[in-house]
Amino acid sequence: MNVRQLWKGAVLAALMLGLAMAQGGKLEIFSWWTTGGEAAGLVKLFELYKQQHPGVEIVNAAVAGGAGSNAKAVLKTRMIGGDPPDAFQVHMGHELTDTWVVTGFMAPLDDIFKQNGWEEVYPKGVLELLKWNGHYWSVPVNIHRANVLWYNKAIFDKYGLTPPTSYDDFFAAAEKLKKAGIVPLALGDNGIWASTHVFETVLIGTLGPDGYKGLWTGATDWNGAGVRKALETFAKMLDYVNSDHAARSWDQANDLIVQGKAAMFIHGDWANGDFMAKKFDDYGWAPAPGNGDVYDALSDSFGMPAKAPHPQEARWWLELVGSKAGQEAFNPLKGSICARTDCDPSLFNPYLQWAMKQWKTNEIVPSLAHGAAAKESWVAAINDVMTLFVTRRNVEQAQKMLVQACADAGVCSH
Ligand code: GAL
Repeated sequence: MNVRQLWKGAVLAALMLGLAMAQGGKLEIFSWWTTGGEAAGLVKLFELYKQQHPGVEIVNAAVAGGAGSNAKAVLKTRMIGGDPPDAFQVHMGHELTDTWVVTGFMAPLDDIFKQNGWEEVYPKGVLELLKWNGHYWSVPVNIHRANVLWYNKAIFDKYGLTPPTSYDDFFAAAEKLKKAGIVPLALGDNGIWASTHVFETVLIGTLGPDGYKGLWTGATDWNGAGVRKALETFAKMLDYVNSDHAARSWDQANDLIVQGKAAMFIHGDWANGDFMAKKFDDYGWAPAPGNGDVYDALSDSFGMPAKAPHPQEARWWLELVGSKAGQEAFNPLKGSICARTDCDPSLFNPYLQWAMKQWKTNEIVPSLAHGAAAKESWVAAINDVMTLFVTRRNVEQAQKMLVQACADAGVCSH
Protein backbone atom coordinates (compact mmCIF):
# COMPACT_ATOMS: atom_id res chain seq x y z
CA MET A 1 0.00 0.00 0.00
CA ASN A 2 1.47 3.40 -0.96
CA VAL A 3 1.17 6.69 0.94
CA ARG A 4 -1.68 7.89 -1.26
CA GLN A 5 -3.73 4.77 -0.57
CA LEU A 6 -3.00 5.03 3.13
CA TRP A 7 -4.08 8.67 3.11
CA LYS A 8 -7.27 7.80 1.25
CA GLY A 9 -8.03 5.02 3.72
CA ALA A 10 -7.54 7.34 6.68
CA VAL A 11 -9.79 10.01 5.16
CA LEU A 12 -12.49 7.42 4.48
CA ALA A 13 -12.30 6.08 8.04
CA ALA A 14 -12.54 9.62 9.44
CA LEU A 15 -15.52 10.34 7.22
CA MET A 16 -17.31 7.18 8.36
CA LEU A 17 -16.66 7.98 11.99
CA GLY A 18 -17.91 11.52 11.43
CA LEU A 19 -21.03 10.14 9.79
CA ALA A 20 -21.68 7.84 12.70
CA MET A 21 -21.14 10.64 15.22
CA ALA A 22 -23.39 12.89 13.21
CA GLN A 23 -26.12 10.25 13.52
CA GLY A 24 -26.38 11.49 17.08
CA GLY A 25 -29.37 10.00 18.78
CA LYS A 26 -30.11 8.47 22.09
CA LEU A 27 -31.02 5.06 23.41
CA GLU A 28 -32.54 4.45 26.81
CA ILE A 29 -32.45 0.83 27.96
CA PHE A 30 -34.49 -0.26 30.93
CA SER A 31 -33.65 -3.43 32.90
CA TRP A 32 -32.93 -4.68 36.43
CA TRP A 33 -29.41 -5.86 35.65
CA THR A 34 -27.21 -4.24 38.27
CA THR A 35 -25.31 -7.09 39.97
CA GLY A 36 -22.05 -8.85 38.95
CA GLY A 37 -22.81 -11.06 35.94
CA GLU A 38 -25.95 -9.11 35.06
CA ALA A 39 -24.15 -5.78 34.86
CA ALA A 40 -21.14 -7.33 33.09
CA GLY A 41 -23.37 -8.76 30.36
CA LEU A 42 -25.29 -5.53 29.92
CA VAL A 43 -22.13 -3.43 29.70
CA LYS A 44 -20.77 -5.84 27.07
CA LEU A 45 -23.89 -5.27 24.95
CA PHE A 46 -23.50 -1.51 25.36
CA GLU A 47 -19.87 -1.79 24.18
CA LEU A 48 -20.91 -3.66 21.05
CA TYR A 49 -23.68 -1.16 20.38
CA LYS A 50 -21.22 1.72 20.75
CA GLN A 51 -18.90 0.10 18.20
CA GLN A 52 -21.75 -0.16 15.72
CA HIS A 53 -23.33 3.24 16.46
CA PRO A 54 -20.68 5.43 18.08
CA GLY A 55 -22.79 8.57 17.84
CA VAL A 56 -25.65 7.29 19.95
CA GLU A 57 -25.73 8.20 23.61
CA ILE A 58 -26.78 5.21 25.70
CA VAL A 59 -28.72 5.81 28.89
CA ASN A 60 -28.66 2.87 31.28
CA ALA A 61 -31.97 3.13 33.13
CA ALA A 62 -31.53 -0.04 35.22
CA VAL A 63 -33.44 -0.25 38.49
CA ALA A 64 -31.82 -2.54 41.10
CA GLY A 65 -33.75 -5.45 42.62
CA GLY A 66 -33.58 -9.11 41.61
CA ALA A 67 -36.20 -10.50 39.23
CA GLY A 68 -37.38 -6.97 38.53
CA SER A 69 -38.94 -6.68 41.97
CA ASN A 70 -38.58 -2.88 41.88
CA ALA A 71 -38.08 -2.32 38.16
CA LYS A 72 -41.46 -3.66 37.09
CA ALA A 73 -43.33 -1.10 39.21
CA VAL A 74 -41.18 1.76 37.91
CA LEU A 75 -41.73 0.57 34.36
CA LYS A 76 -45.50 0.55 34.82
CA THR A 77 -45.50 4.11 36.11
CA ARG A 78 -43.39 5.24 33.18
CA MET A 79 -45.38 3.41 30.51
CA ILE A 80 -48.75 4.51 31.83
CA GLY A 81 -47.44 8.03 32.35
CA GLY A 82 -46.40 8.29 28.70
CA ASP A 83 -42.66 8.25 29.45
CA PRO A 84 -41.53 4.88 28.04
CA PRO A 85 -37.88 3.86 27.59
CA ASP A 86 -36.70 2.92 24.08
CA ALA A 87 -36.53 -0.78 24.92
CA PHE A 88 -37.01 -2.76 28.11
CA GLN A 89 -36.19 -6.13 29.60
CA VAL A 90 -39.23 -8.34 29.91
CA HIS A 91 -39.71 -12.06 30.50
CA MET A 92 -40.96 -13.99 27.55
CA GLY A 93 -44.41 -15.54 28.11
CA HIS A 94 -47.25 -14.20 30.22
CA GLU A 95 -45.31 -11.25 31.64
CA LEU A 96 -44.77 -9.89 28.15
CA THR A 97 -48.08 -10.85 26.63
CA ASP A 98 -50.61 -10.30 29.40
CA THR A 99 -49.06 -7.17 30.85
CA TRP A 100 -47.89 -5.31 27.77
CA VAL A 101 -49.04 -6.81 24.49
CA VAL A 102 -52.75 -7.33 24.95
CA THR A 103 -52.94 -3.86 26.48
CA GLY A 104 -51.54 -2.32 23.31
CA PHE A 105 -48.33 -0.85 24.71
CA MET A 106 -45.87 -2.66 22.42
CA ALA A 107 -44.68 -2.27 18.84
CA PRO A 108 -44.87 -5.40 16.65
CA LEU A 109 -41.45 -6.61 15.49
CA ASP A 110 -42.27 -8.85 12.52
CA ASP A 111 -40.10 -6.95 10.05
CA ILE A 112 -37.04 -7.20 12.33
CA PHE A 113 -37.55 -10.95 12.63
CA LYS A 114 -37.93 -11.28 8.86
CA GLN A 115 -35.01 -9.05 7.88
CA ASN A 116 -32.65 -10.85 10.24
CA GLY A 117 -33.79 -14.36 9.35
CA TRP A 118 -34.59 -15.10 12.98
CA GLU A 119 -37.33 -17.57 12.18
CA GLU A 120 -34.51 -19.90 11.09
CA VAL A 121 -32.32 -19.51 14.19
CA TYR A 122 -34.70 -19.49 17.16
CA PRO A 123 -36.25 -22.76 18.35
CA LYS A 124 -39.84 -23.27 17.25
CA GLY A 125 -41.17 -23.35 20.82
CA VAL A 126 -39.54 -19.99 21.54
CA LEU A 127 -41.01 -18.44 18.39
CA GLU A 128 -44.46 -19.70 19.36
CA LEU A 129 -44.18 -18.15 22.81
CA LEU A 130 -43.14 -14.83 21.33
CA LYS A 131 -46.10 -14.64 19.03
CA TRP A 132 -49.43 -13.20 19.95
CA ASN A 133 -52.17 -12.48 17.49
CA GLY A 134 -49.83 -13.54 14.68
CA HIS A 135 -47.08 -11.02 15.49
CA TYR A 136 -43.72 -11.00 17.27
CA TRP A 137 -43.45 -8.69 20.28
CA SER A 138 -39.99 -9.08 21.79
CA VAL A 139 -36.50 -10.37 21.05
CA PRO A 140 -35.14 -13.03 23.43
CA VAL A 141 -31.49 -12.64 24.36
CA ASN A 142 -31.12 -15.78 26.48
CA ILE A 143 -32.57 -18.82 28.19
CA HIS A 144 -32.10 -19.13 31.94
CA ARG A 145 -32.59 -22.27 33.97
CA ALA A 146 -34.32 -21.72 37.30
CA ASN A 147 -34.18 -25.17 38.93
CA VAL A 148 -30.52 -25.59 39.77
CA LEU A 149 -28.97 -26.70 43.03
CA TRP A 150 -25.63 -24.94 43.45
CA TYR A 151 -23.23 -26.22 46.07
CA ASN A 152 -19.92 -25.35 47.62
CA LYS A 153 -17.60 -28.18 46.59
CA ALA A 154 -15.14 -27.86 49.47
CA ILE A 155 -17.98 -28.22 51.98
CA PHE A 156 -19.50 -31.16 50.13
CA ASP A 157 -16.09 -32.88 50.00
CA LYS A 158 -15.39 -32.23 53.66
CA TYR A 159 -18.69 -33.81 54.75
CA GLY A 160 -18.68 -36.58 52.15
CA LEU A 161 -21.84 -35.35 50.45
CA THR A 162 -23.16 -35.78 46.92
CA PRO A 163 -25.85 -33.54 45.40
CA PRO A 164 -29.21 -34.73 46.76
CA THR A 165 -31.58 -35.95 44.08
CA SER A 166 -34.60 -36.53 46.34
CA TYR A 167 -36.05 -34.56 49.25
CA ASP A 168 -35.10 -37.39 51.65
CA ASP A 169 -31.48 -37.06 50.51
CA PHE A 170 -31.72 -33.29 50.79
CA PHE A 171 -32.95 -33.38 54.38
CA ALA A 172 -30.35 -36.01 55.37
CA ALA A 173 -27.56 -33.79 54.00
CA ALA A 174 -29.11 -30.67 55.52
CA GLU A 175 -29.27 -32.28 58.97
CA LYS A 176 -25.62 -33.30 58.78
CA LEU A 177 -24.58 -29.78 57.74
CA LYS A 178 -26.69 -28.08 60.38
CA LYS A 179 -25.06 -30.21 63.12
CA ALA A 180 -21.67 -29.14 61.78
CA GLY A 181 -22.61 -25.46 62.08
CA ILE A 182 -22.90 -24.83 58.33
CA VAL A 183 -25.99 -23.18 56.85
CA PRO A 184 -27.43 -26.00 54.71
CA LEU A 185 -29.43 -23.82 52.31
CA ALA A 186 -28.70 -20.19 51.43
CA LEU A 187 -31.71 -17.94 50.92
CA GLY A 188 -31.95 -14.22 50.21
CA ASP A 189 -35.61 -13.28 50.03
CA ASN A 190 -35.62 -9.58 50.78
CA GLY A 191 -37.40 -9.78 47.44
CA ILE A 192 -39.98 -12.49 48.20
CA TRP A 193 -39.67 -13.86 44.66
CA ALA A 194 -36.60 -15.80 45.84
CA SER A 195 -38.81 -17.90 48.12
CA THR A 196 -41.42 -18.30 45.39
CA HIS A 197 -38.52 -19.47 43.23
CA VAL A 198 -37.54 -22.27 45.65
CA PHE A 199 -41.20 -23.22 46.11
CA GLU A 200 -41.62 -23.49 42.35
CA THR A 201 -38.83 -26.09 42.21
CA VAL A 202 -40.53 -27.98 45.05
CA LEU A 203 -43.81 -27.95 43.12
CA ILE A 204 -41.98 -29.42 40.12
CA GLY A 205 -40.16 -31.97 42.27
CA THR A 206 -43.39 -33.02 43.96
CA LEU A 207 -45.96 -32.91 41.16
CA GLY A 208 -43.64 -33.84 38.27
CA PRO A 209 -43.42 -31.73 35.08
CA ASP A 210 -46.94 -32.50 33.83
CA GLY A 211 -48.54 -31.94 37.20
CA TYR A 212 -46.67 -28.66 37.55
CA LYS A 213 -47.68 -27.49 34.08
CA GLY A 214 -51.28 -28.35 34.91
CA LEU A 215 -51.25 -25.79 37.73
CA TRP A 216 -51.21 -23.03 35.12
CA THR A 217 -54.07 -24.42 33.04
CA GLY A 218 -56.37 -25.61 35.81
CA ALA A 219 -55.67 -29.28 35.07
CA THR A 220 -53.88 -29.81 38.40
CA ASP A 221 -55.88 -29.23 41.56
CA TRP A 222 -54.38 -26.52 43.77
CA ASN A 223 -56.43 -28.03 46.56
CA GLY A 224 -54.95 -31.49 46.08
CA ALA A 225 -52.52 -33.60 48.07
CA GLY A 226 -49.60 -32.70 45.77
CA VAL A 227 -49.68 -28.99 46.51
CA ARG A 228 -50.12 -29.72 50.21
CA LYS A 229 -47.09 -32.02 50.15
CA ALA A 230 -45.03 -29.36 48.34
CA LEU A 231 -45.95 -26.76 50.99
CA GLU A 232 -44.99 -29.19 53.76
CA THR A 233 -41.66 -29.91 52.11
CA PHE A 234 -40.93 -26.24 51.56
CA ALA A 235 -41.84 -25.47 55.20
CA LYS A 236 -39.34 -28.09 56.31
CA MET A 237 -36.67 -26.66 54.03
CA LEU A 238 -37.09 -23.32 55.75
CA ASP A 239 -35.74 -24.96 58.92
CA TYR A 240 -32.40 -25.13 57.18
CA VAL A 241 -31.92 -21.63 55.77
CA ASN A 242 -29.82 -18.75 57.10
CA SER A 243 -31.70 -16.85 59.82
CA ASP A 244 -31.07 -13.48 58.16
CA HIS A 245 -32.64 -14.54 54.84
CA ALA A 246 -35.24 -11.74 54.90
CA ALA A 247 -32.46 -9.14 54.99
CA ARG A 248 -30.45 -10.55 52.09
CA SER A 249 -30.79 -10.13 48.35
CA TRP A 250 -30.26 -13.14 46.07
CA ASP A 251 -26.66 -12.21 45.36
CA GLN A 252 -25.96 -11.68 49.06
CA ALA A 253 -27.29 -15.20 49.62
CA ASN A 254 -24.92 -16.41 46.93
CA ASP A 255 -22.11 -14.77 48.92
CA LEU A 256 -22.72 -17.35 51.65
CA ILE A 257 -21.74 -20.06 49.16
CA VAL A 258 -18.70 -18.08 48.00
CA GLN A 259 -17.57 -17.48 51.59
CA GLY A 260 -18.04 -21.15 52.54
CA LYS A 261 -20.72 -20.32 55.12
CA ALA A 262 -23.57 -22.12 53.35
CA ALA A 263 -23.49 -25.37 51.42
CA MET A 264 -26.41 -25.20 48.93
CA PHE A 265 -28.40 -22.62 47.02
CA ILE A 266 -31.48 -23.44 44.95
CA HIS A 267 -31.54 -20.68 42.39
CA GLY A 268 -31.44 -19.71 38.74
CA ASP A 269 -28.27 -19.81 36.71
CA TRP A 270 -27.65 -16.07 37.03
CA ALA A 271 -25.95 -17.40 40.19
CA ASN A 272 -23.41 -18.87 37.78
CA GLY A 273 -22.83 -15.40 36.29
CA ASP A 274 -22.47 -14.08 39.84
CA PHE A 275 -19.87 -16.75 40.72
CA MET A 276 -17.89 -15.78 37.63
CA ALA A 277 -18.06 -12.07 38.45
CA LYS A 278 -16.89 -12.87 41.99
CA LYS A 279 -14.10 -15.06 40.58
CA PHE A 280 -15.30 -18.09 42.56
CA ASP A 281 -15.04 -21.44 40.88
CA ASP A 282 -15.20 -24.02 43.65
CA TYR A 283 -18.86 -24.73 43.02
CA GLY A 284 -20.83 -27.65 41.64
CA TRP A 285 -24.34 -27.91 40.30
CA ALA A 286 -27.14 -30.42 39.80
CA PRO A 287 -30.85 -30.29 39.11
CA ALA A 288 -32.77 -29.20 42.24
CA PRO A 289 -34.03 -32.23 44.23
CA GLY A 290 -36.68 -34.16 42.29
CA ASN A 291 -36.06 -31.98 39.21
CA GLY A 292 -33.84 -34.34 37.18
CA ASP A 293 -34.48 -34.15 33.43
CA VAL A 294 -36.72 -31.10 33.82
CA TYR A 295 -35.61 -27.67 32.59
CA ASP A 296 -37.52 -24.96 34.42
CA ALA A 297 -37.02 -22.20 31.89
CA LEU A 298 -37.39 -18.48 31.43
CA SER A 299 -36.11 -16.02 28.92
CA ASP A 300 -35.04 -12.41 29.18
CA SER A 301 -36.16 -10.54 26.13
CA PHE A 302 -36.33 -6.95 24.99
CA GLY A 303 -39.40 -5.28 23.64
CA MET A 304 -39.97 -1.87 22.13
CA PRO A 305 -42.83 0.29 23.41
CA ALA A 306 -45.18 1.52 20.69
CA LYS A 307 -44.30 5.03 21.85
CA ALA A 308 -40.52 4.57 22.14
CA PRO A 309 -38.98 8.05 21.78
CA HIS A 310 -36.07 6.77 19.63
CA PRO A 311 -37.46 3.90 17.53
CA GLN A 312 -34.52 3.69 15.10
CA GLU A 313 -31.97 3.44 17.93
CA ALA A 314 -34.24 0.91 19.63
CA ARG A 315 -34.37 -1.21 16.48
CA TRP A 316 -30.58 -1.27 16.32
CA TRP A 317 -30.56 -2.43 19.95
CA LEU A 318 -33.04 -5.23 19.21
CA GLU A 319 -30.98 -6.31 16.21
CA LEU A 320 -27.93 -6.52 18.44
CA VAL A 321 -29.54 -8.54 21.24
CA GLY A 322 -30.97 -10.96 18.70
CA SER A 323 -27.70 -11.36 16.79
CA LYS A 324 -25.22 -14.22 17.11
CA ALA A 325 -22.42 -11.82 18.06
CA GLY A 326 -24.61 -10.14 20.69
CA GLN A 327 -25.73 -13.38 22.30
CA GLU A 328 -22.27 -14.94 22.20
CA ALA A 329 -20.84 -11.88 23.96
CA PHE A 330 -23.62 -11.45 26.53
CA ASN A 331 -24.52 -14.93 27.68
CA PRO A 332 -21.15 -16.32 28.82
CA LEU A 333 -20.95 -13.36 31.23
CA LYS A 334 -24.61 -13.41 32.26
CA GLY A 335 -24.62 -17.12 33.05
CA SER A 336 -27.29 -18.05 30.54
CA ILE A 337 -27.40 -19.94 27.26
CA CYS A 338 -28.29 -18.37 23.94
CA ALA A 339 -31.91 -18.26 22.86
CA ARG A 340 -30.55 -18.76 19.32
CA THR A 341 -29.56 -22.26 18.29
CA ASP A 342 -26.29 -21.38 16.52
CA CYS A 343 -24.00 -20.09 19.30
CA ASP A 344 -20.54 -21.62 19.62
CA PRO A 345 -20.51 -23.84 22.77
CA SER A 346 -16.75 -23.46 23.19
CA LEU A 347 -17.30 -19.85 24.29
CA PHE A 348 -19.20 -21.04 27.36
CA ASN A 349 -18.04 -22.43 30.72
CA PRO A 350 -18.63 -26.08 31.72
CA TYR A 351 -21.87 -25.33 33.56
CA LEU A 352 -23.34 -23.55 30.53
CA GLN A 353 -22.20 -26.33 28.20
CA TRP A 354 -24.06 -28.75 30.48
CA ALA A 355 -27.13 -26.48 30.42
CA MET A 356 -27.06 -26.36 26.60
CA LYS A 357 -27.25 -30.15 26.45
CA GLN A 358 -30.02 -30.30 29.04
CA TRP A 359 -32.01 -27.66 27.14
CA LYS A 360 -32.06 -30.00 24.15
CA THR A 361 -32.95 -33.19 26.00
CA ASN A 362 -34.97 -32.22 29.10
CA GLU A 363 -38.67 -31.69 29.45
CA ILE A 364 -39.17 -27.91 29.48
CA VAL A 365 -41.53 -26.25 31.94
CA PRO A 366 -42.20 -22.52 32.37
CA SER A 367 -40.94 -20.63 35.41
CA LEU A 368 -43.51 -19.15 37.78
CA ALA A 369 -41.34 -16.60 39.60
CA HIS A 370 -39.94 -15.25 36.32
CA GLY A 371 -43.01 -14.49 34.30
CA ALA A 372 -43.24 -17.49 32.00
CA ALA A 373 -46.01 -19.57 33.59
CA ALA A 374 -48.59 -17.07 34.82
CA LYS A 375 -49.66 -13.49 34.38
CA GLU A 376 -48.16 -10.89 36.69
CA SER A 377 -51.18 -10.42 38.95
CA TRP A 378 -51.22 -14.17 39.64
CA VAL A 379 -47.48 -14.23 40.35
CA ALA A 380 -47.97 -11.26 42.70
CA ALA A 381 -50.75 -13.12 44.54
CA ILE A 382 -48.50 -16.17 44.97
CA ASN A 383 -45.69 -13.92 46.19
CA ASP A 384 -48.10 -12.61 48.84
CA VAL A 385 -48.86 -16.18 49.92
CA MET A 386 -45.12 -16.80 50.24
CA THR A 387 -44.60 -13.65 52.31
CA LEU A 388 -46.96 -15.03 54.93
CA PHE A 389 -45.81 -18.59 54.55
CA VAL A 390 -42.11 -18.08 55.22
CA THR A 391 -42.91 -16.57 58.60
CA ARG A 392 -46.01 -18.54 59.62
CA ARG A 393 -45.48 -21.88 57.82
CA ASN A 394 -49.22 -22.42 57.92
CA VAL A 395 -49.81 -25.04 55.21
CA GLU A 396 -53.59 -25.01 55.39
CA GLN A 397 -53.86 -21.23 55.15
CA ALA A 398 -51.32 -21.06 52.30
CA GLN A 399 -53.12 -23.73 50.30
CA LYS A 400 -56.45 -21.93 50.68
CA MET A 401 -54.86 -18.73 49.45
CA LEU A 402 -53.25 -20.52 46.48
CA VAL A 403 -56.64 -21.99 45.52
CA GLN A 404 -58.14 -18.51 45.69
CA ALA A 405 -55.28 -17.02 43.63
CA CYS A 406 -55.96 -19.51 40.83
CA ALA A 407 -59.65 -18.61 40.88
CA ASP A 408 -58.87 -14.89 40.88
CA ALA A 409 -56.60 -15.44 37.89
CA GLY A 410 -59.62 -16.84 36.07
CA VAL A 411 -57.98 -20.23 35.55
CA CYS A 412 -59.67 -22.33 38.27
CA SER A 413 -63.41 -22.39 38.61
CA HIS A 414 -63.79 -22.91 42.37
C1 GAL B 1 -34.55 -12.91 36.62
C2 GAL B 1 -33.95 -12.51 35.31
C3 GAL B 1 -32.50 -12.80 35.28
C4 GAL B 1 -31.79 -12.36 36.55
C5 GAL B 1 -32.60 -12.61 37.83
C6 GAL B 1 -32.07 -11.94 39.07
O1 GAL B 1 -35.91 -12.60 36.67
O2 GAL B 1 -34.58 -13.19 34.28
O3 GAL B 1 -31.93 -12.22 34.15
O4 GAL B 1 -31.45 -11.06 36.40
O5 GAL B 1 -33.92 -12.21 37.66
O6 GAL B 1 -32.16 -10.56 39.03
